[in-house]
Amino acid sequence: MTSLAEGTLMNTTDRHRAEHKESYACWLQYHKIEDAALVEEYRNWCGNLEILTVSLVMDSAQKELLRGISSMIGSEPDIFAETTSPSGLVLATMESLGGRIIVDFNQLNDDGYVIKAVEEAGQKHIYLVGKKDAGVLYASFHLLRLLQNRENIKKLDILENPKNQLRMINHWDNMDNSIERGYAGLSIFYKDNQFTNEWNRIEDYARLLASVGINGVSINNVNVHKVETNLITSEFLPKVAETAGIFRAYGIKTFLSINYASPISLGDLTTADPLDPSVREWWKTKAKEIYQYIPDFGGFLVKADSEHRPGPFTYNRNHADGSNMLAEALEPFGGIVIWRCFVYNCLQDWRDRSTDRARAAYDHFKPLDGQFHTNVILQIKNGPMDFQVREAVSPLFGAMEKTNQMLEFQIAQEYTGQQRHLCYLVPQWKEVLDFETYAKGEGSPVKRVVDGSLFNNKFSGIAAVSNIGNDYNWTGHTLAQANLYGYGRLTWNPDLSAEAITSEWIEQTFGHDEAVMETVSQMLLDSWRIYENYTSPLGVGWMVNPHHHYGPNVDGYEYSVWGTYHFADCHGIGVDRTVKTGTGYTSQYFKENEAMYESLETCPDELLLFFHHVPYTHVLKSGETVIQHIYNTHFEGVEQAKRLVQNWTELKDKIDGERYEDILKRLQEQAEHAKEWRDIINTYFYRKSGIQDELNRKIY
Ligand code: GCU
Repeated sequence: MTSLAEGTLMNTTDRHRAEHKESYACWLQYHKIEDAALVEEYRNWCGNLEILTVSLVMDSAQKELLRGISSMIGSEPDIFAETTSPSGLVLATMESLGGRIIVDFNQLNDDGYVIKAVEEAGQKHIYLVGKKDAGVLYASFHLLRLLQNRENIKKLDILENPKNQLRMINHWDNMDNSIERGYAGLSIFYKDNQFTNEWNRIEDYARLLASVGINGVSINNVNVHKVETNLITSEFLPKVAETAGIFRAYGIKTFLSINYASPISLGDLTTADPLDPSVREWWKTKAKEIYQYIPDFGGFLVKADSEHRPGPFTYNRNHADGSNMLAEALEPFGGIVIWRCFVYNCLQDWRDRSTDRARAAYDHFKPLDGQFHTNVILQIKNGPMDFQVREAVSPLFGAMEKTNQMLEFQIAQEYTGQQRHLCYLVPQWKEVLDFETYAKGEGSPVKRVVDGSLFNNKFSGIAAVSNIGNDYNWTGHTLAQANLYGYGRLTWNPDLSAEAITSEWIEQTFGHDEAVMETVSQMLLDSWRIYENYTSPLGVGWMVNPHHHYGPNVDGYEYSVWGTYHFADCHGIGVDRTVKTGTGYTSQYFKENEAMYESLETCPDELLLFFHHVPYTHVLKSGETVIQHIYNTHFEGVEQAKRLVQNWTELKDKIDGERYEDILKRLQEQAEHAKEWRDIINTYFYRKSGIQDELNRKIY
């Protein structure tokens, strides 16, 4: 790493670290504590480090504790490797703890940990004990969070286990350094079809991820183009291995997205048929080669037969055939196949009501339940469409009792303002996780399907599309850092409340001022509804400009070559997905949910147009007609967006200049842009329906 003191040319990472300190540090600020008594107390408990296990991950824990504690209390802890330390922190795993304190390791899973404060014989120790070293790292970050939030640490007695086994981030980075749906600069991994070699940036990223418990990362786009196909060859594997080495030190496994047609694309075979023995052999040899470079390689992430990607359909094989072939190749090395269920016909004729896009994942995969290998996991997007501001929860969750399933969220705000608008997604994700599937009767929420507990799955978890890039604040909109933080925390424990996660994040990111806490919390927690208000109404989705998905365009769905997907005409709007008169999509849910969505009486307002086609005069449960709801929410949304600006300006003296200005600029853009949304949507529906706004507001 280039040293600043040497005055040599700084690389981008060093520049960002030095010149954009707060923006770059995200929630790992470690600001100096001003309260002398608290510093004294923290020094008494944390002034020394005793480290009982030697490993790469333990080194990361040690480095982070040294960095955080020194910065907060103003003096560097001493390090002890033996059991002779005076007061201080003790870092140990199940193997090295000995009899120092009693820990019931049966209560811990592989990434679980205990934090315990013990005062005896005049000495103060805080034990950070994991079943394995990753647990110690998570415990260290937990303790640092407590110190950052000025908590009382004298009586700590904490036992934590992550609820989800796989806690992943999917990067959609391309090697030319662009990021598909990236809104925060360019890739931190690649440039000019090579690796960036900015290892210190990647390490800082690994720190951020580990601090919220992420343990897996796929480092290239699911749309695997020509150059990226070569990531699994000797041309790039040494660099993939180097990248994996950085993540490994933070307990994170590296995965790659692969091109299903690799045996052909890499010039070795003329077929990629999963049942062809030469193809099967090719992947086995390939897996062996990869594991020679990366012994703990996580496995493959696969997008097949979707949006023009190759897959088993070409050979009249199904997705079980396709994924099992890869699974067999990875199995001897402990790797897994994460197979995406985002499979649909993007060229569907929308007039043909039997090919509803929402039905596709279930129709393709449900019949294959029980046919997948034990090391295949199906990765299912939260909704049946595509990360809309509001859509139903995918009916596939819980529908495949004999198949490993994981959930896919999108932290990148593709359809939710592209990190130029504020849209904090934790409340949306919580609704998805808490959604009752009824798969095994009441008590079968999505979170229990994807944590593997409902069906006792071997593999399970949550993944999400990353929202970071090489911008100095990582996420474009500084407040979008909260989405990354919140995703990690929620994936660790889906039972945490949105409010608790939000407060934790604000305090670590901006400090302890009451007004900042209150205002930012309200802004974040309201922002999803606000965004929904001025964009697409009642769950109908899209209404964005085609392809880049930013800005209003009511008929803008790129695949609606055969007419609008929302079926708005002069009488009404919405997609009839009922069994009785529509596409039959509702039948994919367990019967309680099917009944709820099928009936106009019980279908929740916010998803009405997702499930039903209704006249504009249809009266919602709120008492408003559909058309009046559209007008009202769009006017209201703009006022709310303006208020976000106003609320933020009240914090001017309480936030550092750079972050204050950055956020202000984005909120101002949002408020302006919300007007455009309001006007385009309201005008469209006014012209379509010919119905006046009851309040006679101006509609352009
Ligand atoms: C969306 C997105 C694409 C992406 C796809 C996917 O359709 O717009 O850019 O490739 O999802 O999840 O594979």
